[in-house]
Amino acid sequence: MEMSKVSMLIFVLCLLMVASSQAMAVGGSCDLISNELKNNVTRDLYGIEVGLKLLMREELVEVGKEFDQVPMILHDFLSSKYREAERSLESLVHRLSSCLGTNLTSSVYIPEPMIEFSKLAIIKAKKAQTLIHQLIQRKEKNTTADHEQVLESSDPSNEYFDSCLFDGTKCQYLPCALGNKLPICAIGFASGITGGAGGLNYVVTRSDDGHPKNPSPGTLRFGVEITGRNKGGVWIIFKESMEIKLKEKLWINSNTTIDGRGVNVTIIGKGLVLARVENVILHNFEVVSTGQSDTVHVFDGTRRVWIDHLTSRDAHLGLVTVLQGSTDVTISNCYLSNHNYNMLLGASDQDTMDRVLRVTIYRNWFKSSTQRMPHCRWGYCHVVNNYYMDWFYYAIGARVHAKVLSELNVFEPGRRLEVTPWFDQYKSDLTPTIESSKDLLLNGATFHQFLKYGTLSSPRDNFPMYKLPTRPTDSLASLVTNCSGVLFGSKLSDCLATP
Ligand SMILES: *[C@@H]1O[C@H](CO)[C@@H](O)[C@H](O)[C@H]1NC(C)=O
Ligand SMILES: *[C@@H]1O[C@H](CO)[C@@H](O)[C@H](O)[C@H]1NC(C)=O
Ligand SMILES: *[C@@H]1O[C@H](CO)[C@@H](O)[C@H](O)[C@H]1NC(C)=O
Ligand SMILES: *[C@@H]1O[C@H](CO)[C@@H](O)[C@H](O)[C@H]1NC(C)=O
Ligand SMILES: *[C@@H]1O[C@H](CO)[C@@H](O)[C@H](O)[C@H]1NC(C)=O
Ligand SMILES: *[C@@H]1O[C@H](CO)[C@@H](O)[C@H](O)[C@H]1NC(C)=O
Repeated sequence: MEMSKVSMLIFVLCLLMVASSQAMAVGGSCDLISNELKNNVTRDLYGIEVGLKLLMREELVEVGKEFDQVPMILHDFLSSKYREAERSLESLVHRLSSCLGTNLTSSVYIPEPMIEFSKLAIIKAKKAQTLIHQLIQRKEKNTTADHEQVLESSDPSNEYFDSCLFDGTKCQYLPCALGNKLPICAIGFASGITGGAGGLNYVVTRSDDGHPKNPSPGTLRFGVEITGRNKGGVWIIFKESMEIKLKEKLWINSNTTIDGRGVNVTIIGKGLVLARVENVILHNFEVVSTGQSDTVHVFDGTRRVWIDHLTSRDAHLGLVTVLQGSTDVTISNCYLSNHNYNMLLGASDQDTMDRVLRVTIYRNWFKSSTQRMPHCRWGYCHVVNNYYMDWFYYAIGARVHAKVLSELNVFEPGRRLEVTPWFDQYKSDLTPTIESSKDLLLNGATFHQFLKYGTLSSPRDNFPMYKLPTRPTDSLASLVTNCSGVLFGSKLSDCLATP
């Protein structure tokens, strides 16, 4: 992050603080501040929050050694947020100045919501300013000090800010995560992702697949292909619940979100493919693929993908594969009850490009599958707060120097007790590291750790943006069973009611 940008942000924030305190001071005369302006300021505060998240991520890249370059897209996104914030804050100042010049005696009352709004704006602006100052100081000292603490030490009274950044599924249904603000809830290695938030909004209105070669407006395929022509990306939602029968595989472009919140969307027939793309969010739908492939296939150097609240049942090769140089993927809150395979991360011992692979596997319900929950090669797999019920061959496997840190998971065995395939001495490759930390092993389940090459460190230690709220294993099963997979209707309300 260039210093000039940081200074600019501080300047903008100061403007905001001044403007907001004036709004409070003059009260009723500021009826001039229209709802539209208020909405603009809310939007730009959100932009600043996202900007902060990105800033934190970037700080890390400069100081960290393990993590490679942040893509240009983040710089572009942040710059555009600065410009938007600057413009609408200037407008705010302008309006407030003119309202200061109006006849104060003619004002009748001080609108309560406006005061509340101004207070909130000030709290948030101050907080953002403090954070930025702390970051700059740390940067000057050139330390790798714990940036996470900076965020966590922020004002606890600001519930809006904190819950949106750090809470689990509940975050996704709060006002601060409505519509294309969803990325503020991103977690794990996909933290800082934006998906289609900067792009067009598109509503799927028909459930058929039209002519796949020449997609028809209103279809999901048409929405997905818009991004190919418009570099800004696309945020796709659905007019109503529907079952979409694909005739061909759906190739997803960069900067895309498919957001099925609030509806019951099932995609059948063919799977989704992500090849050499980045910044994609797949959220809240079911994928049923009838062919010989997995339902979501991530490969060929794809980066930055958040797969959240998907349901996959009976898929031949499982829900997600992440292969061939792909990285920075979070697979969270999914309901996965495929019969045999489940989640393959790295497909071949020969694929050494998978050394870059980093995947977070979080809050998924793995139910009655045989193997690969996940199976990991070469890279780093962080397996946290998942609920495993009745695996058959093994639950967590790894080969060729993969590193798997299993933390705070619940293992409830059915047909087999061993979590890892250590019993298979002849076929097992003993080069991976598989470490268990605070896992709950029920009903005689056993976890054989592979620690020949030492123990692992958590990404939380190296990666300040790495948010992953965890909960103790004793209350995890009810949360995961109520909240994993596609949520809508009563399932959604049950999840939100689950403590
Ligand atoms: C709010 O933002 C929009 C888009 O940036 C702009 O066109 C509009 O003039 C702004 N409204 C006010 C009152 O500043
Ligand atoms: C201010 O408003 C009051 C009430 O509407 C009016 O009586 C007074 O003349 C106004 N003063 C000026 C300077 O316009
Ligand atoms: C910061 O620290 C790193 C590693 O200790 C060092 O290589 C680098 O030169 C330092 N940068 C500055 C600006 O001092
Ligand atoms: C994604 O969006 C960014 C700007 O937000 C743009 O610079 C980039 O080219 C886009 N990527 C693709 C592949 O369209
Ligand atoms: C959700 O949609 C699928 C496919 O259309 C349907 O089979 C299922 O019954 C729906 N679920 C609910 C609860 O409506
Ligand atoms: C789901 O949540 C409800 C409401 O909080 C709770 O009563 C129920 O026990 C939960 N279900 C499971 C399976 O834990």
